[in-house]
Amino acid sequence: MAVTASLPAQVCGARELVKAFWRDGRRVSLHAIAAELQRDREVRQLTDGSIESVDDMGFVLGFQITTRRSLALPAETVNAPGAPAQRAPNVVGVDDNVDLTPRSLSHVVYFVPDADKAETFYVERLGFRCSDRFSGVGPFLRPAGTLDHHTLFMIQTPPFMKGCEHFTFHMSGPTEVMQAGTRFVEKGYQSFWGPGRHRFGSNWFWYFNSPLGCHVEYDADMDLHDDSWAARAAPMGADASQLFLFQHREKWAPGGPPAAPAG
Ligand SMILES: [Fe+2]
Repeated sequence: MAVTASLPAQVCGARELVKAFWRDGRRVSLHAIAAELQRDREVRQLTDGSIESVDDMGFVLGFQITTRRSLALPAETVNAPGAPAQRAPNVVGVDDNVDLTPRSLSHVVYFVPDADKAETFYVERLGFRCSDRFSGVGPFLRPAGTLDHHTLFMIQTPPFMKGCEHFTFHMSGPTEVMQAGTRFVEKGYQSFWGPGRHRFGSNWFWYFNSPLGCHVEYDADMDLHDDSWAARAAPMGADASQLFLFQHREKWAPGGPPAAPAG
């Protein structure tokens, strides 16, 4: 998926800053998508060749012939007893100065006033699959173009909260999530939730407050699913949302020279 901060005419709410481009792996044409959506809504043809419309909640959708570049990058490496070493002798796993450029946009999360209606639109009109769901809250969805557990998660909220809750930068592994998040903390950004690891999707996460009107997240190592997967359901409590949760700690032990004698 891709998210752009360009603001189309339809602005959905105070938390709305995004237009989502979805990767549709069904090999259907833009014309076919446009024909489907034009049954009950306007579809605009933009000068860049993409088409633009809205979903049933009013979120702006874009479709274009893919411009994604294929990536050929190594994943984070791990040395574990009993398994072949992934790092050769003398190759260290920690580099303070490593480049932490996100590899892709992982997913976007919307607050929606009617999660059932929103899910029906994405599943029945655009061919999305439900990977898992939080009962009474909303579904984790993936379009046909990816096996990632979710690229879209929707949470039912009161209507006035409708908007983008967060979007996510996909990193090479948990170390990059921790390291990128730590750099954010050191620059003064406020941690909102994390670091930790989700249960549904198994992705590592760290959320931050941002000046964009929504949260932003780093994540890594998400589960893949194909059409043989049976969606799970669970209530959305802390136990279901996180396998574990860490907390950043500035100082973990006393240090420095002995205190000067009093007086
Ligand atoms: Fe997320």
